[in-house]
Amino acid sequence: MTSAILSVSVLLIVFCTADGFLSFGVDRCQFNSTNPEDIEYIYSEYFNKKELLRFSSSVGKFVGFDKYGKYQAEYFNNNTAYLEQMRNEKARYCGRNVPNDNNCILSKSVEPYVVLSSVPPAPGHHATLACSVFKFFPKEITVEWQINGKTVTTGVSTTDVLPSGDWYNQVHSNLEYTPGSGEVSCVVHHRSLMKPLATVWESSMPESEKSKIAIGASGLILGLILTLAGFIYYKTKSRGRILVPSS
Ligand SMILES: *[C@@H]1O[C@H](CO)[C@@H](O)[C@H](O)[C@H]1NC(C)=O
Ligand SMILES: *[C@@H]1O[C@H](CO)[C@@H](O)[C@H](O)[C@H]1NC(C)=O
Repeated sequence: MTSAILSVSVLLIVFCTADGFLSFGVDRCQFNSTNPEDIEYIYSEYFNKKELLRFSSSVGKFVGFDKYGKYQAEYFNNNTAYLEQMRNEKARYCGRNVPNDNNCILSKSVEPYVVLSSVPPAPGHHATLACSVFKFFPKEITVEWQINGKTVTTGVSTTDVLPSGDWYNQVHSNLEYTPGSGEVSCVVHHRSLMKPLATVWESSMPESEKSKIAIGASGLILGLILTLAGFIYYKTKSRGRILVPSS
C-alpha cells in the first residue's frame, strides 16, 4: 500500500488567461512516506493542458518538452540563483507540507462497503460476478477473488480506482467462473480494515445447503396451501348455515 505514490498538488501561479487560453504552474510533492528520500518535488509549467517544462528535485534542473519549453528551461537554468532556490524547494515546500498532509489527511481512512451481484453473461461466456467496492478512503486498495478460500486470477478483470469526486473512491472487479465450482467470495484489503473484508456470493452455497432450503420451502408452501384450503372449506360451510328463530 505504501508503494503507491501519493501526490499533493497546489495550483500556484496563473500567469495569464485570455479568451480561453490558460497558462499555469503547478507545485507537486510526490511521496510514498514522510521520509525525505521518498519525496520528489516537481514544478511544471503548462500552456492549456500541455506541459512545457518541468523542474524535478530528482533531476535538479529544468527540462523543456518542446521548442518554447526548451528555450525557457535553458533560460531558467542559466539563472543560478533561481536554480539554487528551486533545488531548495523540496525541503522548504514539501518538507513542511508532506508531514501535515500525511498527519491530517492521509492517516484518516474510511471503510469500504461491498456489493456482490451477478452480471448477465455475454453469449459464449461463463457466468460473471461483479464485486463493487464503494466509499473508501484513501484510494489504495486490493480486491481479490477467492473460490473455496483460494485466490483466483484467471477470469478476473478489475477497473482502476475511480474517484467519486467527494474524497471517496470506488473500484469494480468482475469474475468469470463456472457455477458450482465452489464458494465464491470477493475479498477486499484496505488500510481502514483490521482484517480483510470477505463477501460470499450467496448462490455459491453448497448443493446440500440448497436442497435443505428447497425441502424447507416446499414444506412451507404445502402448509400454506392446506391452511388456505381449510379456510375456504370453513367459509363455505359457515355461509351454508341457516339461522332458525328459536321461538
Ligand atoms: C518510495 O519512493 C522512492 C522515490 O521515488 C523510491 O526510491 C522507493 O523505492 C519508494 N518506496 C516504496 C516502498 O515504494
Ligand atoms: C544561457 O547561457 C548560455 C551561456 O552563457 C548562452 O549562450 C545562452 O544563450 C543562454 N540561454 C538563454 C535562453 O538565455
